[in-house]
Amino acid sequence: MFAARRQQLLAALGPNAVAIFVGGRLATRSADTEYPFRQDSDFWYLTGFDHPDAIAVLSTRPGPAFTLFVQPRDRAAETWTGYRPGIEGAVADYGADEAHPRESFLEKLPTLVRGADRIYHTLGREPAIDGRIVSLQDEIRRQSRGGVLPAQALVDPRLLVHEMRLKKTPEEIALMQHAAGISLEAHQAAARLAHPGRYEYELEAELARSFRARGGAGPAYGSIVGGGKNATILHYIRNDQPLVAGDLVLIDAGVEYQGYASDVTRTYPVGGRFGGAARDLYSVVLAAQLAAHDASKPGATLPEIHQTTLRVLVEGLRSLGILSASTDEIVSKELYRPYYMHGTSHWLGLDVHDVGAYVVRADDGTTKPRPLAPGMVYTIEPGLYVAADDEKAPAAFRGIGIRIEDDVVVTETGILNLTRDIPKSIDALEAWVQGT
Ligand code: GLY
Ligand code: MN
Ligand code: MN
Repeated sequence: MFAARRQQLLAALGPNAVAIFVGGRLATRSADTEYPFRQDSDFWYLTGFDHPDAIAVLSTRPGPAFTLFVQPRDRAAETWTGYRPGIEGAVADYGADEAHPRESFLEKLPTLVRGADRIYHTLGREPAIDGRIVSLQDEIRRQSRGGVLPAQALVDPRLLVHEMRLKKTPEEIALMQHAAGISLEAHQAAARLAHPGRYEYELEAELARSFRARGGAGPAYGSIVGGGKNATILHYIRNDQPLVAGDLVLIDAGVEYQGYASDVTRTYPVGGRFGGAARDLYSVVLAAQLAAHDASKPGATLPEIHQTTLRVLVEGLRSLGILSASTDEIVSKELYRPYYMHGTSHWLGLDVHDVGAYVVRADDGTTKPRPLAPGMVYTIEPGLYVAADDEKAPAAFRGIGIRIEDDVVVTETGILNLTRDIPKSIDALEAWVQGT
């Protein structure tokens, strides 16, 4: 999988080019403790190398096509912080043609890039590397009688890699489908705890337990467990309040599995029964969500899908007496914004808000929304949020937040919903909470 990606990228780099990818480092949490290591997604995508402080170089010049710079083996360091593949492992287990200590990278850089026509490198991450690349070009220019030309272009390699990452292969889809299955079990286990008196963190803990117990890395992003009005805070992650009878609890949580994120939201009735106002508002969000599914197909665009879902939400807000202007006026003046303030979709993959351009360039230099094509994975996640202190909304709806989020992949003929087995009808959600 990783070798095939490198081949695809090498073919796209063009002749006499060098591409540099700097891997992730350990991040300090506090004092001398660190966050668990998570590899940079581009680096992982191209190498499968899951250790800090590495650099990968891909080259279409004479010499090695794939060079890894890694931390060498070190018995003492490994006793404290764990196994390192080292130079030998980088070649034997990760397919590098050559490997060197990470420390030697700047020293080897001139040999790697001297004479290359194009250098692919992301500026702004490692000032020492940026500076050396620039100074090398100057050195080469000054020595032009030596017969070497400076590079003609310094290009951001993310342009190519992110286009590749946007379109998932069948292997990637299978991993994401597996992730969706783990997220299903986690949601089901957490839903059973959605009863009065339980604390939001108890549901969060159950999600985390389920993710790890099925071989996931953990949550793909901070799990959101918001009871009652906490569900109206989009990125609520304090998760420290007790659940109250008659409220809803919004759970936005998905596992990361072999690097791939799932991103799932369901909104459950605390105690197992939707009350009248919650039921009405939920039915609107569900209708909007299903409309977005229906509008999804190859050639459609995410803004079109957003507009489709938005109109259903707006009709619902009008029918419930939350907004009163005409649908067209509500849409054109964005009067819905207090109740629906986020987009309906984003790309999903190795990152929860995944890479890939949302627009394409037209011939005249303007941009237009990108038509969906097979292999693209995105979320469908409409919601409605009525602030607890919204005096314009009927009292019964205040403090209710609802979102329903699925992960879908575009196929040749339509979409496949990766999270199709996670229920979202009112009856099925009530049954999940009741454990029946
Ligand atoms: N969980 C973040 C999002 O839904 O975009
Ligand atoms: Mn999302
Ligand atoms: Mn989400």
